[in-house]
Amino acid sequence: MLLHDIGFFTPDYKDAGHDVTGARLAREWLFEFGYGSEQIEAIGHCIRAHKGKAETPRSLEARILYGADVLEKAGAVYLILAGRVTCEFDETIEHVLAREVVDRAKESSRGYYTTMARTPDNGRLERTRLLLDEVHAEIQTDRSDIRPDESALWANSPPRIEDH
Ligand SMILES: [Fe+2]
Repeated sequence: MLLHDIGFFTPDYKDAGHDVTGARLAREWLFEFGYGSEQIEAIGHCIRAHKGKAETPRSLEARILYGADVLEKAGAVYLILAGRVTCEFDETIEHVLAREVVDRAKESSRGYYTTMARTPDNGRLERTRLLLDEVHAEIQTDRSDIRPDESALWANSPPRIEDH
């Protein structure tokens, strides 16, 4: 869980996917910290499978991680997080929405692997997909004036780590 998004710290995550690059980086770190090959492979699988793209989650731990990762994006509150993602990765709202709609659709059709994730979802993921789809369609038609990127979303300059 702690390592699952470390792929964002690798230079090639946009091309290879942060799930793949994160698993590769985790392997290096875990090996240096003395983890055995079986543990490294198990953790690597969890990281590679947490998006359900590079690998299908096979182990219980990977399925739990997958469910937790999907649940974070299930619900109207995810619109706020999507705005944050837009800022953090310097993308446009339209680009983020296009990607998120596709990802939520795949996750929604794939479903969850555990009851522990399926129960609290209670239809939130599908509702989120529909909501994102509606927002995406709206900025392409009725609100085509909305094309904000990071600079438009901040009233002032974004806070920097060194300021804190
Ligand atoms: Fe991730």
